[in-house]
Amino acid sequence: MNLSLEYLINQKLAHVFDVLNLDKKFAVVKVSDRPDLSDFQCNGALALAKSERKNPREIAALIVGELEKDADFAKISIDGPGFINLSLADKFLAHNIDAIAADKNFGCAKVDKPNRVVMDFGGPNVAKALHVGHLRSAVVGESIRRIENFVGNETVSDVHFGDWGTPMGMILSEIIRQDGNLAKVETYDIKQISAFYKQANIRCKEDESAKEEARLITTKIQDKEPEFYKAWQHLRKVSVDDVKKNYAELEAHFDLWLGESDAHETCKEVVKIAQERGIAEVDDGATIIRLDETKSQRPPVILVKSDGGFGYQLTDIATIKMRYDDLHADEIIYVVDKRQSLHFEQVFEVAEKLNLAPNVKFLHIGFGTVNGPDGKPFKTRDGGVMNLEDLIKLSKDKVRESLPLPNEVEGYGEKEIEKMVTQIAMAAIKFQDLKNNIASGYIFELEDFAKFEGKTGPYIQYAVARINSIIRKANAAGIKEGNIIISNREEKDLALKISQLSNTIMRAHTEHEPSIISDYVYTLAQTFSTFYNASSIMNAESAELASSRLKMSRLVRDILVQLLYLLGIEAPEVMLKRERSAFDRNN
Ligand code: ARG
Repeated sequence: MNLSLEYLINQKLAHVFDVLNLDKKFAVVKVSDRPDLSDFQCNGALALAKSERKNPREIAALIVGELEKDADFAKISIDGPGFINLSLADKFLAHNIDAIAADKNFGCAKVDKPNRVVMDFGGPNVAKALHVGHLRSAVVGESIRRIENFVGNETVSDVHFGDWGTPMGMILSEIIRQDGNLAKVETYDIKQISAFYKQANIRCKEDESAKEEARLITTKIQDKEPEFYKAWQHLRKVSVDDVKKNYAELEAHFDLWLGESDAHETCKEVVKIAQERGIAEVDDGATIIRLDETKSQRPPVILVKSDGGFGYQLTDIATIKMRYDDLHADEIIYVVDKRQSLHFEQVFEVAEKLNLAPNVKFLHIGFGTVNGPDGKPFKTRDGGVMNLEDLIKLSKDKVRESLPLPNEVEGYGEKEIEKMVTQIAMAAIKFQDLKNNIASGYIFELEDFAKFEGKTGPYIQYAVARINSIIRKANAAGIKEGNIIISNREEKDLALKISQLSNTIMRAHTEHEPSIISDYVYTLAQTFSTFYNASSIMNAESAELASSRLKMSRLVRDILVQLLYLLGIEAPEVMLKRERSAFDRNN
């Protein structure tokens, strides 16, 4: 079902164009830029005037003449050279909102043909703690995954673990250097393994032979020599278990926990295909594929390095083959740092050259970095990369300041308060991220991002809690939901805003841009607030109006909760705030 008003009006317009024998391509309206003059606007007469060689105002007059027969329009006028302004009858708008309120998908359109979309995001690496860069991949990726599902696509999300490169060899060689052998590997936990990795990193930077040793051990792992392979399996397992906790807290969902290592056998197949088809060539001992130079000058893709090792690019190319053969992907979406754009451009082109995934659509959604106050990628005070866990802790501490202490409010002990702290802190972190365009980086705001006012996640959560309380009060007074009535400007504005939901979500989907949803959710909360200030439920002019307003409030609450869900945010039923906090004093 598509209950978008633009869609419904376009259909009416198309009918009129049919009657008048005009090209239906131009039968489109847009939301008016001047809501004081009209609700919608159609500029089709101007475009038609050119192809029909007529005066645009004349054509507009013909269209208006037909439209006026439709009682769903309250006012139609022609403006300027031939713009058609349309205002809806309040009844029509009210019916539309009733229909949206009765539909479990809020009258939102679905895609015409559902696709199976493989989503590659997360991208953690063995033995490395998640940092703020991984935050964006998880937060944006999860939001896009939810939006894809909402519009009717089927998704398969894969975390694509970085578990097969030289870092693995570095860790094991460091353990051997310190312990003499790998006997104790299985006793090491994530902290110890990460420490080995850090030490290995320093050593390999300084010492060429340490690097060589690490490379050698990496080959042994990749050749599955039992002693090394078994040790590697332990590193991987410990890392996966650890990272799963982080993603659980972020509520990022992965259907598959595959990694680069899982593509190893397919890498061999891909190399064979490239050689057999004469697409690969040998250059300085390495097997490479040159890219189409007429497009732009890009370095060739190295399939097999001169030492026989498989690199990052080959792994991604092979993974495409697997996602086509085994997962039957129609589309593959990667949510990865935009600094990897060239990598994906190369990978996609090779996959196409080798015809590994015919007709599959590839998309790299490249995001900008999360920056510190200096505008550079976020660092800790001592200059290290900011860990995701530290960032979450920092946010929780901030949120805790504005909540009551445990047991200050009845029914809210430590457990309940901590749950709320987590919900609010996550909303603050995620909303701050998702209110920005994906491609642009942003400065992580440490002061205002968790406030209950302004364009923040907690503000929207607060709006939901406030409506919950309005509904509870109305229910207690025995008010029931009834048909929607539009009786004042504020009700009309809110109804028009609600009717834009379907298009908003569709746009967020086609543009792969959750910020379109965060913008809408924020303005919807504001429009509701204006509506509620002007349109009381408890003191409504009539019982029918009280029932209509209650329904409208419930609908807005449900939409806010749904949209927050699409942003990966949970809305608590009730929101508490600390008494006599700065927030209360200032408000
Ligand atoms: N592990 C990689 C990194 O940290 C990101 C992986 C992204 N996904 C992919 N299919 N290459 O840079």
